[in-house]
Amino acid sequence: RAEGDPVILEPRPWNQFLGEGVDARPYGFPSEHEAHVRRQDVPWLTADPISSVNFTPLHELDGIITPNGLCFERHHGGIAEVDPAEHRLMINGLVDRQIVLTMQDLMRFPRENHVYFLECAANTGMEWAGSQLNGCQFTHGMIHNVMYTGIPLRLILAEAGVKPSGSWILVEGADASGMTRSIPMEKALDDCLVAFKMNGEALRPEQGYPVRLVVPGWEGNMWIKWLRRIEVGDQPWHHREETSKYTDLLADGRARRFTWEMDAKSVITNPSPQAPITHGPGPTVLTGVAWSGRGTIPRVDVTLDGGINWHDARMSGPSFNKSMHRFYFEFNWDGQPMLLQSRAHDSTGYVQPTKNQLREIRGENSIYHNNGIQTWAVDKDGRAENVEIS
Ligand code: MTE
Repeated sequence: RAEGDPVILEPRPWNQFLGEGVDARPYGFPSEHEAHVRRQDVPWLTADPISSVNFTPLHELDGIITPNGLCFERHHGGIAEVDPAEHRLMINGLVDRQIVLTMQDLMRFPRENHVYFLECAANTGMEWAGSQLNGCQFTHGMIHNVMYTGIPLRLILAEAGVKPSGSWILVEGADASGMTRSIPMEKALDDCLVAFKMNGEALRPEQGYPVRLVVPGWEGNMWIKWLRRIEVGDQPWHHREETSKYTDLLADGRARRFTWEMDAKSVITNPSPQAPITHGPGPTVLTGVAWSGRGTIPRVDVTLDGGINWHDARMSGPSFNKSMHRFYFEFNWDGQPMLLQSRAHDSTGYVQPTKNQLREIRGENSIYHNNGIQTWAVDKDGRAENVEIS
């Protein structure tokens, strides 16, 4: 192939001319050849792009960390552009001392670093009634996995002094949507963080700059962005986001509520509808991601034939608690059609269910918490499609 290959024989612009200097890109950005790697929304999903969502391009990523500029965004009142000099965090309610903290005050608390996934409870929600969106970006892209630097929430609550009757907190955002959620005190004191950095740099405005709440393993809606107030109370507040939204209506008319933990889930990112096999038969790399709100992912199974034969995928990269995990399965593709699936096992022993197993228990009214096994049908040309098999 190299014989007569012009990219070897003829000079390229990059070895003929000098490049830009070190002063050209003070805050760098990706190669222009990566312009197709982008968050994308689905315009018909929401009435407007302000209270809406876009999706992480999972099929373009590798490893476990989501680059900041590609983290999916979900906001109910648009991106709040908060001036950190005018931002305050108030702690009130059942506390010994009501306090108001500036960003400078926050920077004087001890901080920690942790990698966590954030998954919107509505991730894969459009697939409850059957396969709909053709690409893992759209079926599974309401997730990102980032290293946060933040202050353990328990230290901030201790500064205010929680009264013995304080058993819940209400967290409130500074954006125009009036986002509030109730969180039990046990979780608040356990592993929640008030984070100000993601992957080492300041939070992006769309992710809650200058501070957001991190609620490891729990549904993304509770991770309040632009965090401005924490009220301590003795019962949940039953606000909009925990009653009419983020509850799961069952077939018999009852609703599951306070379904905070994200169950174990996985998806094959390559091959997938947006990332077909283009090299023909032969050595092929299959990869994907898995995560659980209850721990780590020690094992992922992969099938090429719709579940007749399962194989152990190879886990690669760090295995952090409540973080995304990366798996690979290398195989020799014979050029025949395939039905690809992955199945996550988490450290509690829980095994990712099929979509039909979920529907048997939860009916078909739900939007939230769809962690069923995803199937991609690959044809003999390597094209992949979102399908369901029973
Ligand atoms: N916090 C505020 N203040 N306003 C919002 O609209 N959206 C919530 C949550 N926190 C929201 C918010 C929802 S529904 C999700 S899924 C996550 O933020 C999304 O976080 P991300 O935009 O970093 O992906």
